[in-house]
Amino acid sequence: MSDALQPRHASRRPRALRIALPVGLAVTALGALWAIAEIPGVAGAELPPMPVAAAQLPVIDVAGVTAADPCSEPAVVDALGAGDDEAAIAAFGGGAAFRDAMVVGNAPCISLTDPARRWVIVNKTLSLNPVDYAPAPLSGTSVETTTRSNQLRGDAASALNEMAAALHESGAGVLGMNNGYRSYRLQVATHAGHVSSLGQTAADRVSARPGFSEHQTGLSMDLVACSNGCGEIGAFGGTRESEWVAEHAWEHGFIVRYEEGVTDTTGYVQEPWHMRYIGPALASAYHDSGCRSLEEFFGLPAAPDYAH
Ligand code: DAL
Ligand code: ZN
Repeated sequence: MSDALQPRHASRRPRALRIALPVGLAVTALGALWAIAEIPGVAGAELPPMPVAAAQLPVIDVAGVTAADPCSEPAVVDALGAGDDEAAIAAFGGGAAFRDAMVVGNAPCISLTDPARRWVIVNKTLSLNPVDYAPAPLSGTSVETTTRSNQLRGDAASALNEMAAALHESGAGVLGMNNGYRSYRLQVATHAGHVSSLGQTAADRVSARPGFSEHQTGLSMDLVACSNGCGEIGAFGGTRESEWVAEHAWEHGFIVRYEEGVTDTTGYVQEPWHMRYIGPALASAYHDSGCRSLEEFFGLPAAPDYAH
């Protein structure tokens, strides 16, 4: 595992690793298997060596029942079939158990590249599939928006409304939204604009290429502070709104997707304004884990560059 994928605090090491360390040496052989395994739904992805995590493989707690194969549990099957992501995670035993199952490769029924799921991973090596995917239905939000890209997937919109209300009630100011959902076509224009002004290399560090943006899932949005009229996204960091969001967003199902210091993993410079909705259970587990990127959280390879 590279330095970029190490948790911030040793005391907050991901649970899978923490539990497995005492038996780490005994499972070295499993590490070789891990290296050639496939992440469910991420065909061809190169996995980081995580032999100690494999020690947990046989035991996953599913809704209070110890299950070796959570994907065969009726509650998991039913929730996935119903498209109820939060219920599926609960049926795995909660956000941490869900994450652990993914990390050790014990969740073949879960695709990290299904764009309709809360756990979808979109990065420079995992594009939207299909590349012109469009979520539906979309809805507006109750927060002030500063662009015409003012829609989100319904669950993300509701969560944003609740987060903005909580922020306001706590006296941390007024939250607004810049871009929400961006279609493939809009991302073409957005990215081209950055390339035109910055050049390709610099543009790729601040803007996703078409088909590679979380904004296209309807689960991401860029926040602005609107206490004294709405500011720009670049002015969001350092505001009281931004500080509140960094501390409390997880309570509403969001994470700050592109944190400072993890450009080697995400491929993007720090974006304190770019939020990603992953739902309450995963956001809580993410917060508890101390992870600083979804790649680290799910044990995926760093994605600093495009393949081509
Ligand atoms: N600015 C983020 C990386 C995007 O374009 O999706
Ligand atoms: Zn963004």
